[in-house]
Amino acid sequence: MAKKLYIKTYGCQMNVYDSARMADVLAPLGYAPATAAEDADMVILNTCHIREKAAEKVFSELGRLRRLKAQKSDGGGRMILAVAGCVAQAEGAEIVARAPFVDIVLGPQTYHRLPEMVAQVARAGGQVLDTDFPAEAKFDFLPEASAPQGVSAFLSVQEGCDKFCSFCVVPYTRGAEFSRPARDIIAEARRLVALGAREITLLGQNVNAWHGEAGGGLGALLRALAEIEGLKRLRYTTSHPLDVDDGLVAAHRDLPSLMPFLHLPVQSGSDAVLRAMNRRHGADDYRGIVARLRRARPDIAFSSDFIVGFPGESARDFAATLALVREVGFAQAYSFKYSPRPGTPAASLPEQVPEAIKAERLAELQALIAAEQRAFNDGAVGSELPVLFERRGRHEGQLVGRTPYLQAVHARAPEREIGAVLKVRITAVGPNSLAGEVAAATVRR
Ligand code: 5AD
Ligand code: SF4
Repeated sequence: MAKKLYIKTYGCQMNVYDSARMADVLAPLGYAPATAAEDADMVILNTCHIREKAAEKVFSELGRLRRLKAQKSDGGGRMILAVAGCVAQAEGAEIVARAPFVDIVLGPQTYHRLPEMVAQVARAGGQVLDTDFPAEAKFDFLPEASAPQGVSAFLSVQEGCDKFCSFCVVPYTRGAEFSRPARDIIAEARRLVALGAREITLLGQNVNAWHGEAGGGLGALLRALAEIEGLKRLRYTTSHPLDVDDGLVAAHRDLPSLMPFLHLPVQSGSDAVLRAMNRRHGADDYRGIVARLRRARPDIAFSSDFIVGFPGESARDFAATLALVREVGFAQAYSFKYSPRPGTPAASLPEQVPEAIKAERLAELQALIAAEQRAFNDGAVGSELPVLFERRGRHEGQLVGRTPYLQAVHARAPEREIGAVLKVRITAVGPNSLAGEVAAATVRR
């Protein structure tokens, strides 16, 4: 009988992708996906360490799973429990010590060794801790992605980060920057398209630092991918402003399938704060990059990440962030209170901002961002946008898709249009999506 695997994923798209690859690597051992931990013979928590409370959440989830595991073994069964991802990488030894009922603790760089770890636990019992940064590249040892991801698929092209922003754990949990070879990426993209993908989002912690073995940057890679028959849309995330080079800007100018939407975190609009964050660019550099991209692709829209209450952030610094947001006009953006991460340089800076001020600033920034997002969405009403339909909607006869700007759209269309890009006249803006009508001329009969 097939064994069941349940993976609970926290955090970023990279983790979503990694979870799918862990499922791929365990499939040959007979593990099929389960929809709940209750039904599973193996449970993996794929964790995130980027902001506070992540580790505490993991320990409380582990408490629940411990009881489940005990019930299973009382009934004569067995549950293997694994903790993966960045909390495992950063706090592996503590997990092993605090949670002896956890069988496997593994970091993001050792997923390809998971079958061995499972075998070892099954054979000998005991705990396995593997948070190495092994010399072999995990991608060379992972099986080909086998489960279809649907119309919109993710493809990891780059991992790790050498930027060392002073607030961030990624360079420690994910390790040094590593780019997968172009030929592997192109082969994986072809497979995804053969499995039904019509849109591919290239993933990396610092995706636009991707570089080919023989030179060439992300722009060149995007050009090669744009040649793939049947691949209608390309996206990439997440980018650092410093690595937006001419080749990438030219790709936005030249490639119709490269979507005019870019998530480009700036974190702050204050030069002093950006310096203390070790971002290695100023607010005007960011404005300049936005302007260059807008010249290359006039309809491009932007998204960003912001941190409020970074140590030493004054009221004036924060006002500079608000000013930058007003100037750029974001289609959407994420914002967070600064959260001191143990081991990062910013955590030991003297002028930590009081919680109440962080909360106040966050509320103000989020209100501004929400207003910009509303204005951006309102601007779509009455226009016709190409929508890639991804799946059935909640109501009968309705499909859900996305505009080039990542806005979700509900429209009536037959199910055979899943995977097609149709012109949709946007009629209304809801809280989480747009509503529209497929332009009659584009419906296939
Ligand atoms: N505190 C708050 N936000 C953070 N981010 C990363 N580290 C921290 C931190 N210590 C945010 C950044 C990043 C996003 C993924 O998470 O804005 O771009
Ligand atoms: Fe973290 Fe991104 Fe800075 Fe790298 S560039 S250290 S991933 S915030």
